[in-house]
Amino acid sequence: MTTHLIGMLLGTEEDWPRAFEEILRGLGPVTDDSGGKHVFETERITIEPFSLRDRPRHDLVIDRLAYWYYHPREWLKKVALMDGVYLLNSPFTFQSMEKHAAYCAMIRLGLKVPETVLVPYKNPLDNARYAYTAARYNQPFDLDAVARRIGYPLFMKPYDGGAWRGVSRIRNEAELHAAYDASGEMLMHLQKAVDYDVFARSLSIGAETMVMRFQPDQPMHHRYAVSHEFLSPEAGSEVVTIGKLVNAFFRWEFNSCETLVKAGEVYPIDYANACPDVALTSLHYYFPWAMKALVKWSLFALVTGRRPRLDVSTEQYFEIADTPGLSYGEKLAAYRSLADSYFEVGRYQEFCDRSLNHLDEVVHDWAIGPAFDSLLVDTVRAVYPVHEHDRFVAHLRGLIALWARDEEGRHGA
Ligand SMILES: Nc1ncnc2c1ncn2[C@@H]1O[C@H](COP(=O)(O)OP(=O)(O)O)[C@@H](O)[C@H]1O
Ligand SMILES: [Mg+2]
Repeated sequence: MTTHLIGMLLGTEEDWPRAFEEILRGLGPVTDDSGGKHVFETERITIEPFSLRDRPRHDLVIDRLAYWYYHPREWLKKVALMDGVYLLNSPFTFQSMEKHAAYCAMIRLGLKVPETVLVPYKNPLDNARYAYTAARYNQPFDLDAVARRIGYPLFMKPYDGGAWRGVSRIRNEAELHAAYDASGEMLMHLQKAVDYDVFARSLSIGAETMVMRFQPDQPMHHRYAVSHEFLSPEAGSEVVTIGKLVNAFFRWEFNSCETLVKAGEVYPIDYANACPDVALTSLHYYFPWAMKALVKWSLFALVTGRRPRLDVSTEQYFEIADTPGLSYGEKLAAYRSLADSYFEVGRYQEFCDRSLNHLDEVVHDWAIGPAFDSLLVDTVRAVYPVHEHDRFVAHLRGLIALWARDEEGRHGA
C-alpha cells in the first residue's frame, strides 16, 4: 500500500478544500493497474520557517496562495527544484509568465490576439539610478499616436494583470490620458477592444477543460451562466484547443482562460491565471465538475507517477507555427495533438475508467447529501451579509440540484 500526501496552500477559502477532502474520503483507496493500493491524505499547509535542506512530506501540492504571498512561493520553488514534488502549478512555469508572456507565445503560434502594445511606465520605479537611465534611454513617445494606430475603443490593462485590477475601457483621447495618468507604477498594455458576441471562459485542470459562458457585467455569482451549446461545435473545439495549447506550452495544469468570440472568430485575451478561482459561489453548477477534475488529475499524477516538468519545449510548437502551407485550422489540429500528448489524455482516460470508475457516483451522492449542504450553507454564511443568506442558499441549492439531475442524465440514475 502506498500513502500519498496532498498538500493545499490556501488563501481565505474554506469551500473547495473541504469539498476536496470530503470527496477523497468518500472515494477511499484506489487500485492501480498492477493491483497496488493507494491511499490519499490531505493537509492544509501552514507557513513556517524551512531549511533549504528539509525534505517535504508532500507528494503533490495544489496552490492558491503563491500568486500573492511569497514565502510559500519560495517553498514551492524549493520543493519543485530539489524534491520533485508535483505542483499545480509550479512557480517556475508561472513566475515570469504573466499575461504578457502568454500573449507573446500565442501571437508567435499564430493565434488571433487583438492588436496589443506595451507602453513605458507612467511613473517609473523609484530608483536612484533611474534619472540617468531615463535621461538617456526613456524616449518621449506619443501616446495618442499609439492609440490611434490601434483604434478606439481599446483596453488599457496591466501586463501582469488579474482580477480586473487597473483595467479600463477607453473610447477617446481624454479617457486615454486619464487612464494612463492613473496607471502610476503599473506597466500597461493597450489592446484593441473586441466587440464580441460571446465571452467564453474556460477552466482547465490537467487533461480536462470546461468552457463556460461568461457574463463579465454581472455580479460575481451570475458571471458563469449555466448554458450549454452556446458556441458552434467548431468555435467550442477551438476554445478548448487554445486553452490546452497554452497550458501545455507553459506546463500549466490549473488555469483559467478567457476568449472573446465574434462572428465565429476566436480571440484569446487572458490566458495566465495561476491560481484560478474555484469558489463554490462563483462556479456553482460547475463546482462539482471542478472538484472531480481536481481529484482525478491529482490522483492520476500520483498513482501513475507522472513526472512534473519544469522545462518547456517551445521548438516543437514553433515548428508547427513555421510550417509553410499549413492553414490556421491545420496548425490548431497539430497543436492539439501535441497538447493532448503532453497531458497524456489517453492514459488519463484509461486511469479514470479503470481506477476511478466509482468517482462519479461518490461525487453525485455527496453533492445531494447533507455534508455538501452544510458546506453550502457555511460558505454562504462566510461570503454574504446576513440578509442575503436565505436567498443565496436557495439559489445555490437550486443550481446544484440541477447539476445532479443533468449528471443523472449523463451517467444514468
Ligand atoms: N481586448 C478586449 N476586448 C474586449 N474586452 C476586453 C478586452 N480586454 C479586456 N476586456 C474586458 O476586461 C476584462 C478584464 O481584462 P482581462 O484581460 O481579462 O484582465 P484580468 O487579468 O484583470 O482579468 C475582461 O474580462 C473583459 O471583460
Ligand atoms: Mg480576465
